[in-house]
Amino acid sequence: MRSFLTRGLVALSVVLGASAVNYNSSAYTDSATGIDFQRWCDEGTGYCFGVALPETVESDFIGQLTVPLSESKGWGGVSLGGQMTENLLLATWPNGDSAVASLRKTKVYSSPDTFSGDASIAEIPKGTSVNSTHFTYTFLCSGCIIGTPTTFSASDDSYLMGWALSKTNPSTPGSPSSVLPYHAAGNGAFRMLLSQAKSAQYSTWVDMAEAPTTPTASSSASVTPSATPTPSPNALPTVSNVTYDYIVVGGGPAGIITAERLAEANKKVLLVERGVASLVSMGATDSLPWNQSLTPFDVPALGTSLSKLGVIGDYLCEDVPGMAGCVLGGGTIVNAMVFIHPQSVDFDDKWPSGWKWQDVEAAAGRLYERNPGSTLPSADGRRYDQSLYKVLSSFLSGMGWQSVDQHEQPNVKHMAYSHPSWSIGDGVRAGPVRSYLPLVQDRDNFFLRLQTKARRLVRRGGRVTGVEVENVTGGIEIINVHAGGKVVLAAGAMSTPRILFNSGIGPVDQVKTVQDGSTGITLPPQAEWIDLPVGQGLKDHPMFTVSVNSNSNFTAYNTSSVMSSPSALDRRLYAQGSGILTQGGHRLQFWTSNEGTDGVTRFYQGSCSPSGEGTMTMKLYLTHGATSSGVLGINAAGSTILETDPWLTTAADKEATTRFLEGLINDIETSSGLSLQDTSAQDILAQMTSGDHWVGTAKMGPDDGRHSNGTSVVDTNTKVYGTENLFIVDASIHPDLPTGNTQAMVMVAAEAAAARILAQDSIGGAA
Ligand SMILES: Cc1cc2nc3c(=O)[nH]c(=O)nc-3n(C[C@H](O)[C@H](O)[C@H](O)COP(=O)(O)OP(=O)(O)OC[C@H]3O[C@@H](n4cnc5c(N)ncnc54)[C@H](O)[C@@H]3O)c2cc1C
Ligand SMILES: *[C@@H]1O[C@H](CO)[C@@H](O)[C@H](O)[C@H]1NC(C)=O
Ligand SMILES: *[C@@H]1O[C@H](CO)[C@@H](O)[C@H](O)[C@H]1NC(C)=O
Ligand SMILES: *[C@@H]1O[C@H](CO)[C@@H](O)[C@H](O)[C@H]1NC(C)=O
Ligand SMILES: *[C@@H]1O[C@H](CO)[C@@H](O)[C@H](O)[C@H]1NC(C)=O
Ligand SMILES: *[C@@H]1O[C@H](CO)[C@@H](O)[C@H](O)[C@H]1NC(C)=O
Ligand SMILES: *[C@@H]1O[C@H](CO)[C@@H](O)[C@H](O)[C@H]1NC(C)=O
Ligand SMILES: *[C@@H]1O[C@H](CO)[C@@H](O)[C@H](O)[C@H]1NC(C)=O
Ligand SMILES: *[C@@H]1O[C@H](CO)[C@@H](O)[C@H](O)[C@H]1NC(C)=O
Repeated sequence: MRSFLTRGLVALSVVLGASAVNYNSSAYTDSATGIDFQRWCDEGTGYCFGVALPETVESDFIGQLTVPLSESKGWGGVSLGGQMTENLLLATWPNGDSAVASLRKTKVYSSPDTFSGDASIAEIPKGTSVNSTHFTYTFLCSGCIIGTPTTFSASDDSYLMGWALSKTNPSTPGSPSSVLPYHAAGNGAFRMLLSQAKSAQYSTWVDMAEAPTTPTASSSASVTPSATPTPSPNALPTVSNVTYDYIVVGGGPAGIITAERLAEANKKVLLVERGVASLVSMGATDSLPWNQSLTPFDVPALGTSLSKLGVIGDYLCEDVPGMAGCVLGGGTIVNAMVFIHPQSVDFDDKWPSGWKWQDVEAAAGRLYERNPGSTLPSADGRRYDQSLYKVLSSFLSGMGWQSVDQHEQPNVKHMAYSHPSWSIGDGVRAGPVRSYLPLVQDRDNFFLRLQTKARRLVRRGGRVTGVEVENVTGGIEIINVHAGGKVVLAAGAMSTPRILFNSGIGPVDQVKTVQDGSTGITLPPQAEWIDLPVGQGLKDHPMFTVSVNSNSNFTAYNTSSVMSSPSALDRRLYAQGSGILTQGGHRLQFWTSNEGTDGVTRFYQGSCSPSGEGTMTMKLYLTHGATSSGVLGINAAGSTILETDPWLTTAADKEATTRFLEGLINDIETSSGLSLQDTSAQDILAQMTSGDHWVGTAKMGPDDGRHSNGTSVVDTNTKVYGTENLFIVDASIHPDLPTGNTQAMVMVAAEAAAARILAQDSIGGAA
């Protein structure tokens, strides 16, 4: 059987409930059309996909997609081959009262291109409808049964297909070729029982379809496709009359920390962020019905449910091949708040000299002073909902694992477990938007521009003179630094490379893609391109989601109720900064390690949360010590893409991870009271997804990447090789993966980088 998985794109992975979840389709008759479908529905979201076939299958079928909407927004899709890549995909969404649908195909994990092959879709209007909560699209798909690997085959009795759901609208909903935002509301696999989808009435149903439209896309008659608006390459940018000592690009954790430290040192600093602010105090409008001063992102208990609740989509970047936050605060707003203090080997193994733990320890101290994270966030000093912790800690301690306080003992990461650590303070999500930004926000040498996207750097040779930015209405402006000023990039590991490629910095083939592409970017003359291995060292934690049953009596906290109205008790406690709402979703984190066939020690983390009656989810990650890496590039439309996947590409990573999983499976299966829903290491491995912990695309090191023997993009002062005044401080520069989730490590490194940049500064104080 083919293993199915949209590797790398899964937000919250499919978790089987305690009761037997059926992944098989079943018979369903649509009342609007009378068509008999084999249909599968996802219980959690209400997504459905149905197929009807003729008795003799050729290349056509009738399909029906039901897409649950969030405030009338969203899109849904199906992979007719199973996986996202290299298969025929169909996506559909409502545009006002009409339907838009398109066939897609992609080689990489990013918004898929329209399909250029010989297949078409025609709407069955009788079976197409939209109301405030659901959109249903019924269609005839002609030439769509192509056979493996692109789709199922005419002779298949059953086939594993894939589904995807977003609660965010396509960027240009009127256009069938629109960019599709990340499917954050869910995705996974189901089995379509094709042999049971056949009917003698098929031909009468086909007669209900409209005339087919173009091979690549279809839309109902009332929809006029419009191209994605891109700024005209000839539009003359305006030039800002204000200049700065420093322009910091990207208001994620690394960018805010760096900008704040520079402003504190009296530099005149502009922080440019493409997203909006997420705090009510800064203008966010998505507040909770029961507390107008909080959004869902603020409440710690919702931290692991943001995707499931459909609130995350508006804050995710659309033009990167995985999940990243495009909002002030970046990943620290959309993430699950897990805050693992790095252990010393996280720096000592592969960071260059000058960046070993003893060198950055003081920076870590400065971070923890302002943003320590918490293992006990409830103000009353109590931990709530501890049944899962009791079950798992007794299981682990029974096997000789050690209970640690992870803040006190960050270096104990073998056979160890702890209460979770989260970036939470005063009962709400912490992070630099709360712990750093307010310290300089009112200073007259600090400036913040939101909804302003950096397109490229303006440079003369190695000297960057300014940043070209685009505002929300497409207006283009150049903002300059003073003579002697500097530019700091912090757009994140998947977006900083775009700005570099757009500035003629990176492998020549990537810069050529920009040159030949459709974004209208002005590149410097080719003689000034700087050939550095940008995108080459991409790393991420591979993640495996396993579901564990227990005979104990715990249940998952109902996060939907927190959105509408938490219980009176929980609200009362929360008003005092206490209770379950102040805790993140996890209940226990554990770590262990093993040695690979290459002699390298590899670490593993498990983040465990209740998922149902007596069931829990363990998110298992291969972390520090992993030797795999991939390649990030750019496409003609300006999205960054995965050219090579970064997960488990080395034999030693695969072998060691398999051995870790086999050990864990064995321990659980031989325990009293715990059992796994999936007991094969191979099946668990096949369900690998991105850990959302991307690093390494502009690696720091002493070996100048412009030389054939060099691998680094920035030097150990975080300055880009071949430039005089361009720095990078975000996850892109990390040469290695940490043992835990990335954000604390990113913040430590940014604190150290800010100090390094200031130490070299020769331009003196503020203007
Ligand atoms: C869904 C999810 C869950 C996660 N869970 C955890 C977790 O629980 N614990 C943990 O430790 N880590 C977690 N992470 C990872 C962690 O959040 C990231 O490692 C961290 O945020 C990276 O910080 P950064 O500053 O490098 O980049 P980012 O956080 O990505 O910030 C980059 C910023 O730059 C902005 N930007 C991008 N392009 C431009 C441009 N062209 N112009 C202007 N601004 C731009 C973005 O809007 C963003 O604000 C998670 C990540 C995701 C996506
Ligand atoms: C699902 O369908 C497959 C293939 O027909 C079959 O082997 C399996 O038993 C079915 N599972 C359930 C739970 O019905
Ligand atoms: C909206 O459509 C869905 C799917 O067709 C249906 O289940 C639901 O009852 C409808 N809701 C309303 C309010 O009509
Ligand atoms: C810059 O331009 C703005 C209007 O675009 C004007 O209000 C401001 O006074 C100018 N500042 C300087 C320093 O010239
Ligand atoms: C809303 O939340 C804020 C921040 O936690 C708190 O100070 C305030 O008292 C809350 N208001 C209500 C009405 O619960
Ligand atoms: C965007 O920039 C253009 C051109 O400078 C300007 O006309 C427009 O008002 C700006 N829009 C916003 C929302 O700032
Ligand atoms: C489980 O908890 C519920 C509610 O607290 C209780 O009614 C029930 O008896 C418990 N069951 C077991 C097996 O402990
Ligand atoms: C969770 O809460 C929501 C909203 O209050 C409610 O509709 C739903 O039934 C609850 N789910 C469970 C499993 O109790
Ligand atoms: C790498 O190449 C450069 C230039 O070709 C040279 O100066 C340098 O010594 C080389 N470094 C190593 C470690 O070989």
